[in-house]
Amino acid sequence: MLENTSNALVLGAGGAMGQALVRNFLDDGRIDQVVAISRGGAKIQHPRLHWIHIEYQETDMAAAVDSLAKFKGSFSKVCICHGILHNEKMFPEKRMEDISVEMMQTIFHANTVVPSLWLKLLRKLLAGTIDCKVACFSARVGSTGDNRLGGWYSYRASKAALNSLMKTFSIEYARRAKNIKLIAFHPGTVNSAMSKPFHGTVPEGKLFEPEYVATCLSQVMDEMSVDGQLSYVDYAAKPIAW
Ligand SMILES: NC(=O)c1ccc[n+]([C@@H]2O[C@H](COP(=O)([O-])OP(=O)(O)OC[C@H]3O[C@@H](n4cnc5c(N)ncnc54)[C@H](OP(=O)(O)O)[C@@H]3O)[C@@H](O)[C@H]2O)c1
Repeated sequence: MLENTSNALVLGAGGAMGQALVRNFLDDGRIDQVVAISRGGAKIQHPRLHWIHIEYQETDMAAAVDSLAKFKGSFSKVCICHGILHNEKMFPEKRMEDISVEMMQTIFHANTVVPSLWLKLLRKLLAGTIDCKVACFSARVGSTGDNRLGGWYSYRASKAALNSLMKTFSIEYARRAKNIKLIAFHPGTVNSAMSKPFHGTVPEGKLFEPEYVATCLSQVMDEMSVDGQLSYVDYAAKPIAW
């Protein structure tokens, strides 16, 4: 590692936000090595980028974390990007009759279980002396207090559950890895495959490019101090009601 630099880790790096964050960190002179993990092969090639391809089974995830032992205590920024809202078989529920076990399980696994497994597995790798900010992609629709429109049962609940799990993680991290700050991050509406079916309803100027949101998140991470608390904020660093 170069003097006065640290490393960055992007999990779920193959999506729109993941790739934008990898590029942002590669362009950031304060970051030396970037490690990216995704289900697919490397989408970006760079001499300072180490891309790991896995499936999101706990044993594979644990092996990937073990393979990064030489980076122990050197990551200053970690982004956990996983999230699905729809796929070829499922669309967000408009009414209660649309709820299905298959959809709930699929969405909870990607949006809640996988990020929680990373938070479980990463503690030893991230613990150290340098400040380390860990952002999980949440969503404003995961806010119970802000739920005015209803619908999207599985996605909303998966992000609310992620927020709740992160709160519990933040309490244990504050005891067992005091250099780590957890952030539940809402990116706004991002121009990606996930938001594509809803672009028609986005107010003018409110469909953000992933590169813009990556810059916002990097700034949010820079500005937050390590305080043992979970912060739930949007791209403008504005707190969101739980
Ligand atoms: N787009 C928006 O408007 C918006 C709004 C609010 C919140 N968010 C949140 O922002 C995050 C990034 O979204 P995006 O717009 O970049 O979406 P995207 O381009 O569709 O990326 C999807 C992400 O989910 C991961 N993923 C997909 N299927 C998975 C599965 N079965 N198990 C585990 N992980 C899976 C992908 O990981 P791989 O790299 O392995 O493919 C990738 O990180 C998500 O958490 C999303 O909920 C997005």
